[in-house]
This record gives sequence, structure tokens and C-alpha cells, in this order.
Amino acid sequence: MPDVTPGPVGTATEPLKLAVILGSNREGRFGPVVSDWFLSRTAARADFTTDLIDLAETDLPSALSFSPGPRARAELAKVTSRLAAADAFVVLTPEYNHSFPAVIKSLIDWHFYEWQAKPVGFVSYGGISGGLRAVEQLRQVFAELHAVTVRDTVSFHRAGERFDDQGRPEDPVGCDTAARTMLDQLAWWALALRDAKSVRPYAA
Ligand SMILES: Cc1cc2nc3c(=O)[nH]c(=O)nc-3n(C[C@H](O)[C@H](O)[C@H](O)COP(=O)(O)O)c2cc1C
Repeated sequence: MPDVTPGPVGTATEPLKLAVILGSNREGRFGPVVSDWFLSRTAARADFTTDLIDLAETDLPSALSFSPGPRARAELAKVTSRLAAADAFVVLTPEYNHSFPAVIKSLIDWHFYEWQAKPVGFVSYGGISGGLRAVEQLRQVFAELHAVTVRDTVSFHRAGERFDDQGRPEDPVGCDTAARTMLDQLAWWALALRDAKSVRPYAA
């Protein structure tokens, strides 16, 4: 039997659709080590189904447009419907120069309604800051998009030293606890907002 535990919302309701956005497309990136571990945590829960959106697999133009051409439409086709389908998001972000990567901002700015009235959690990593400055900036951006960011963050400072050669965290218990705390908060908001939107549309 797989180690699948029901989340706090139980199994009576349809699982929440969680889009996990891997926000580094840098050559030689560390991000997949973090996302592989995090996906193992979401897989152990019954209250979410998870879709990994790896921004290294998209190439959205840096120039925004209200009438995108064929190239932009092809790139948007890879992600937009998946964002729209999600009940909740987790953004995995490294920290670059005290902020988050441009590729995350590009994904955010190419979309609008897809973020609205949905919760967003964060897994961050980096050097000394553990990506927390990137997260605080993302909170401001998501507020503008009528999204709700959850309080607790999973954060890895000096991330390269926090995982072994097989990608296992060196403090699995602490990391699992941090992930559970964040995902529990995300599930609460996602369920509350999904229920509310089923009664009345969000008034943006
Ligand atoms: C351009 C650049 C800027 C960075 N700036 C910071 C920083 O301001 N603070 C920090 O803690 N780490 C910083 N780092 C370290 C990264 O957060 C760390 O290398 C992380 O693993 C990068 O994620 P990635 O490998 O998935 O792209 C920076 C790395 C790069 C490449």
C-alpha cells in the first residue's frame, strides 16, 4: 500500500487540483531536486491532484500582447488551460538578486483571470536567504491579481547543502512538517474558495 494519508479536507470531496510551478529555467538549475522532493510530498496526500508546470518547457515571449501571434499562442497553449483548471498553486522559486526569476513574472503577467480568487503557496530556495525575499515580493504581485498567498513557506537556505546525492533532504522530518503545514493551509483556502465560487462568482 502506498503511504497515502487523507489531508485535512478529507476524501469526501473531489480532490483539489494543484498546479506546481517550477520557476527556474536556468541551465544547470537546482530546481528539479526541490520539485522532485516536493512532488513526493503532494503524492502522499489524498486531497490534491498535482500538475507540474515546468517553466523550462515553455518559452513565453518577453513582449506582452493583447493579440498574441502564433508563437506566443503556441506557448500559451502549453500553460493557460492548466492554470485555469487549478484550484490552487504552489510556486517553487529560487532567489536571483534578491528577487524571483523573470520567467515567473512572465508567466504571471501573461495571465490574469487564471489567478483570481485562488490560493498560492511557496517553496523557496537559494543561498543565505532561502529565497524568502523572492517570496515576499511574489506576495505583492499575487495580491494585485486577487490571489491569496498562504502564510507558511517551505524554505531551503544554502539549498545545495540540504539534499544528498539522491535528492533526499538531510532533515526529512523537518521538511515534511514544513510541507504539510503549508499544504494544509493551501487546502483550507482552496476548498473555501472553491465552495464560495460555486455559490457566487468572484466579484473582481
Ligand atoms: C543570477 C543569480 C543571482 C542570485 N542571487 C541570489 C540572491 O540574491 N540571494 C540568494 O540567497 N541566492 C542567490 N543566488 C543563488 C541561487 O538562489 C541558487 O543558486 C539557486 O540554486 C538557484 O536556483 P536554480 O539553480 O534552480 O536556478 C543567485 C543565483 C543566480 C544564478
